[in-house]
Amino acid sequence: MIDRRKFLKDSLIASVGAVSVISSPKLFSGQDEKSDSAQNLKENPSLPIVISTWKHGIPANEAAWKTIINNGRALDAVEKGVRVPESDPKVQSVGYGGLPDRDGYVTLDACIMDEKGNCGSVACIQHIKHPISVARLVMEKTPHVMLVGSGALKFALDNGFKKENLLTKETKAKWEKWLKDSKYKPDIKTEGHDTIGMLAIDNQGNISGACTTSGLAWKYHGRVGDSPIIGDGMFVDNEVGGAAATGKGEAVMKIAGSFLIVELMRIGKKPQQACELAIERIVKKQSDYKDFQVGFIALDKKGNYGAFSLQKGFQYALYRDDKNQLLDSNYYVRDEK
Ligand code: GLY
Repeated sequence: MIDRRKFLKDSLIASVGAVSVISSPKLFSGQDEKSDSAQNLKENPSLPIVISTWKHGIPANEAAWKTIINNGRALDAVEKGVRVPESDPKVQSVGYGGLPDRDGYVTLDACIMDEKGNCGSVACIQHIKHPISVARLVMEKTPHVMLVGSGALKFALDNGFKKENLLTKETKAKWEKWLKDSKYKPDIKTEGHDTIGMLAIDNQGNISGACTTSGLAWKYHGRVGDSPIIGDGMFVDNEVGGAAATGKGEAVMKIAGSFLIVELMRIGKKPQQACELAIERIVKKQSDYKDFQVGFIALDKKGNYGAFSLQKGFQYALYRDDKNQLLDSNYYVRDEK
């Protein structure tokens, strides 16, 4: 059984550990004081709501919102939403046109979860433009949660998905350039690099989430990140809310990031505080935290939301009250001057 007092104490220690790199004392959200963003954003919840990661979340939210305002299910909304960057070759971190692994293969990861706790996922799937829809089919048509690699591809083809070449002229050229040095040090801080994670609450008050990515560029063939892992890249619980992650998957997996945030909300933390505590957990446990980016978004069942990242530059898209906005996330690592 979880020792709740110890859990809270650990969280507090993690936030106290933040002193050396956070210049603003207002970010002590591990205590019950509210951070700037927590204060400004979270006291006025409204439903329905859609939230997603990065700039590519804006057109994705648009697609999701169409379903939501027509009284559709949040599950349909998040699937339709993340399919938008999946088919956009300009988004080189998701779906078609995603950057390949070190051997030149585009391998995709995705997961989806509904308000009943049903979930499905695919990992390291090739040749399928919409892994999120395959993940949904795994959820709905199989007794399993996750299919990987050639098994996931076979399942997709058996169910009518089309086999496509996902490597574009542009991403092939980038890979060939990378091959000249073949340095395996992904630039994880690059703005817009990453995954789309999306959470939505529909007019029935139900939450669902989706997460889809091509993963780290130049990764080892077969590498799977956080995005298709339920509880790492995304998690929802209709009694509490949901969370999704972006950035270096390995760092998220080591703390079961999205599950952690939902559990923190379950014990009373606001979404903003829960995101900050998850980042502080990474800081406490992973000494190289200044070298990579991780960002989280979270939503509770009332429509309170939060976002927080390790490094500057993480943005998220929020659709509520008929307005779709790109917002800058607050972040942990400050310049030490
Ligand atoms: N967050 C995406 C990945 O690490 O694969």
